[in-house]
Amino acid sequence: MKGLVLSGGEGTRLRPITFTQAKQLIPVANKPILFYGLEALSRARIKDVGIVVGNTHKEIEDTVGKGQDFSLNITYIHQEKPLGLAHAILVSQVFLSGEDFLMYLGDNILKEELSPFKERFEREKADALLLLVEIENPSQFGVAEIKGDRIVKLVEKPKVPPSNLALAGVYLFSPKIMEAAKRIKPSWREELEITDAINELLKGGGKVIFKRASGWWKDTGKLDDLLEANRLVLDGLQADIKGRLENSKVEGRVKIEENAEIINSTILGPVIIGRGCRIKNSYIGPYTSIQERTLIDKVELENSIVLQESEIIRIKGRVSSSLVGRGVKIIHKDNHPKGLSFMVGEKSTIEFRD
Ligand code: G1P
Repeated sequence: MKGLVLSGGEGTRLRPITFTQAKQLIPVANKPILFYGLEALSRARIKDVGIVVGNTHKEIEDTVGKGQDFSLNITYIHQEKPLGLAHAILVSQVFLSGEDFLMYLGDNILKEELSPFKERFEREKADALLLLVEIENPSQFGVAEIKGDRIVKLVEKPKVPPSNLALAGVYLFSPKIMEAAKRIKPSWREELEITDAINELLKGGGKVIFKRASGWWKDTGKLDDLLEANRLVLDGLQADIKGRLENSKVEGRVKIEENAEIINSTILGPVIIGRGCRIKNSYIGPYTSIQERTLIDKVELENSIVLQESEIIRIKGRVSSSLVGRGVKIIHKDNHPKGLSFMVGEKSTIEFRD
């Protein structure tokens, strides 16, 4: 069985971060989102993995390489435009070479392991096995209509969902999906939808079964979801303090990497602080991930993700629910004249909440 990881998406809902960084490489608990999927495939003993890449291919290739770090053998497949999940399957035809495959959306993270999923697919000799998650209002996802243990129909982003079972970004397919994908037409959003391809498979008498997710699952395409994924992963964090603490209090599950310095500060986990960070005179509260070489001084920060080499200094209110990009500076200065001063890029968001 092969693996197919889709990382061609442009991450428009995470701009401005995704103007300069691939969405799939944004870190959750200081590790690129994409790595969670690759590690899961590797644990499921799937060796040959194709990564479908688009505009951000160089950054992804430079970061993941040939896959040795994951014990994977990685092939990159170029998708000129993100024209849908079924389109990504079509462009991968040569790589897939008529084998069964597990398709994994590169910006998804899930708690459960993939092996039981793979074993069930092989045992049941199905044409598709889909992972479903119960969601109160699944209108922004593909939604399944089920009968017993079979799927009878899928609808992409329905206004009135036929059930509360959304398609999570993990699918197992027999080679029959390729022919089905060739038969469908683009949807209203100009994409070749995987849901349409699976409906086509059903029409041809294909066996389409499902498994309900047993743990959490998150599609990290938007800020709120990214912060939630960060919370879910940090909930499983192991305490580990390698950096230096000076006159500081650390409570709960806190990971502090090498060469990080925590001075006159309080850290309340779960929190991860990357290598070479300097945290001074600050409070870092639960569910915060701070990437390497960041400087934080006189700040209260919680429920946030801060990327590498940023500086956050002397902020009066508590900073929360934030995603701060690489090399960003947020500084309160005492200079006159008083007032606010910004140099903010396209599509940035700044919110003041008193
Ligand atoms: C895609 C699929 C959808 C699925 C979702 C999971 O949606 O089309 O069926 O439920 O991924 O993340 P998109 O991310 O393209 O909106």
